[in-house]
Amino acid sequence: MTRLPFTLILILIGVTLNGNAWAASTVDWSMEEFKGDLQDMPSLQRGFQLYTNYCLGCHGLEHQRYGRTADDFEIPRELVEDNIIFTGQKVGELIKTSMPAVPAKVWFGATPPDLTLEARLRGPEWIYNYLKTFYVDEERPLGVNNKVYPNVGMPNVLLPLQGVQRAICEDENCDKLEVEEGSGKLSVAEFDQVAYDITNFLYYVGEPARLERQKIGVYVLLFILVLICFTYLLKREFFKDIEH
Ligand code: HEC
Repeated sequence: MTRLPFTLILILIGVTLNGNAWAASTVDWSMEEFKGDLQDMPSLQRGFQLYTNYCLGCHGLEHQRYGRTADDFEIPRELVEDNIIFTGQKVGELIKTSMPAVPAKVWFGATPPDLTLEARLRGPEWIYNYLKTFYVDEERPLGVNNKVYPNVGMPNVLLPLQGVQRAICEDENCDKLEVEEGSGKLSVAEFDQVAYDITNFLYYVGEPARLERQKIGVYVLLFILVLICFTYLLKREFFKDIEH
């Protein structure tokens, strides 16, 4: 009996740490791995641009500013103001969508959520797989479905890039997706890169401080290394008198 509280705590810790796996286990889709890379500036810059082109029309990033994003990605602020901001906002402002929430709910059956914290909510791997697994489904209102978000209300906005993707079924098992050749602007590998860059960007937006932390972390480790050398020398100095 005394072990019960202990077991409960262990289970709670397990569920907390394993949040993503818990959420993912509700769909039957073997997730493709995603490894974010915040040192890859070209990827983050491309992701930022792709996001404003293809996603911001519906999803805001209301906890993130254009200015900070520009600084973190080493893009001059004027360049962002001239080429990335379509909403008439200023570079110092938060990244807002111009989509009004109420009609959006009528059009799509669901309001497109703000995506600032999406990578923390669902995990970047989920987003990456979500972007890659839209497929044709005539039974859905928009003619499209998704493997990791069944019966999704979002239109397949990346279709012009990826092309028409269909589920191929064998013995009632429809786990294979195939893009119709020549139906999209990009090759499979190029589209993977697009999905990667957008996800990497959202991974950054979920916790921008991570980028700084990684940079500072290197300096902290170097500092500790130098400190260890000095501490060792000091120890030698002290023990010299004791040993002799
Ligand atoms: C035309 C409007 C529209 C555009 C453009 C759009 N989305 Fe969506 N998106 C939606 C709607 C509506 C939903 C809600 C779907 C639902 O809950 O069924 C959604 C849902 C999502 C979700 C899941 C949110 C959740 O419930 O956790 C993600 C992630 C997402 N969108 C990412 C993107 C990305 C990335 C882009 C750009 C490549 C994009 N969306 C472009 C309308 C849009």
